[in-house]
Amino acid sequence: MREFKGRVAVVTGAASGIGLGMARVFARAGMKVAMLDVRREPLEAAVEEVRALQGAAIGLEADVSKAESVEAAAARVEAEFGRIDVACNNAGVLIFEKAVEDISMAEWDWIIGVNLYGVIHGIRSFLPRIRKHGEGGHIVNTASIGGFLITAALRTPAYATTKFAVAALTEGLRNDLVGTNIGVSVLAPAAVDTGIYRSPRHRPDAYGGPESGPDRTPAVIREGAHPDQVGRRVLEAIRNNEFHIFTHIQTRDWLKARHEKIIADYDALEQWEAGEPRPIPRLNM
Ligand SMILES: NC(=O)c1ccc[n+]([C@@H]2O[C@H](COP(=O)([O-])OP(=O)(O)OC[C@H]3O[C@@H](n4cnc5c(N)ncnc54)[C@H](O)[C@@H]3O)[C@@H](O)[C@H]2O)c1
Repeated sequence: MREFKGRVAVVTGAASGIGLGMARVFARAGMKVAMLDVRREPLEAAVEEVRALQGAAIGLEADVSKAESVEAAAARVEAEFGRIDVACNNAGVLIFEKAVEDISMAEWDWIIGVNLYGVIHGIRSFLPRIRKHGEGGHIVNTASIGGFLITAALRTPAYATTKFAVAALTEGLRNDLVGTNIGVSVLAPAAVDTGIYRSPRHRPDAYGGPESGPDRTPAVIREGAHPDQVGRRVLEAIRNNEFHIFTHIQTRDWLKARHEKIIADYDALEQWEAGEPRPIPRLNM
C-alpha cells in the first residue's frame, strides 16, 4: 500500500501509547482514523488530539476480547467512513514480575483474551471488510520483541505466551494472503514510553479487578522510544510491505544469540543419534 491520503485505518488500543502514536501518524499522513479502546475517557481525549491534527477521527468504545464488540465497531467504522484499508490490532495488556505458577486463571483469561483473542477478533472483523472493496490494504498485528525472545529478568511468561502466539498467527495470515493485495506485518517493539506497565490498574472486575499501588513502570520503558516513532516506523513498513517491524536495533543481537542457543541444542541430538541403533526417520517433506 503506497497511497495513504483519504484511506481508512482502524487502530485498537488507540487511547494511549503505541496505538495513539499510530493514530497520530496516520492522521498526519491524511488518513481517516477509527480509534478503538475499552477506556472511554482517555479515548475521548485521544480522539480530540488526533482531530486537532486536521485528521478525520472517530472514537469507538470496544473491548477487543469480545468478538461481538469488535464486529459492532467494525460495522460502525464502515458506516462512518465507508471502508477499511488498514487494521492495526494493537490493544494489549501486561502481567509482569510473576512466575507461571503464580498467575491465576482469571489473569490467563484476561491476557489471552485481550492480547491473543483481540487480534483474532480483529482479523475476523476487519479482513473481510478490507477484502470487500478490492483495492488492497494492510493488517498490522502488535506482538512484541517478547514474541520472539524471553527476557528472564522481566518475568513476563504469560505476556510472552500471548505474544509468541500473535507472531505465529500473523505469519500464518501473511502466508494465507500471499499473492493478494493485502499486506500483513507483525510489530515487535522493545521499550516504548507508554502506559503498558499500568495496565493491571485497568484490569476488569471479571478478571480480578484493578490492581492498586505505585506506578511500577521501569526506567527502560520511561526512557524508551516515543510512540510516534513507532507510528512512523509502522507507516514506512506498510508502505514497503515489510513483515517484521522491529523498533530497536539492539534486539537483532538478542535474537541472534537466542537462535544460536536453540541451534546449539541440536548437538545433543546429534551425539545421541550417533549411538542410537535405530535413528529417528528423516522427515519426507
Ligand atoms: N510499550 C512497550 O514497550 C511495548 C513493547 C512491546 C509491545 N508492546 C505492545 O504494544 C501494544 C500497545 O501497548 P502500549 O505499550 O501502547 O500500552 P498502553 O497501555 O499505553 O496502551 C494499550 C491500550 O490498550 C487498551 N486496551 C486494554 N485492554 C483493552 C481491551 N480489552 N479492548 C480494547 N482496548 C484495550 C488500553 O486501554 C490502552 O489504551 C500492546 O499490544 C503491547 O503489548 C508495547
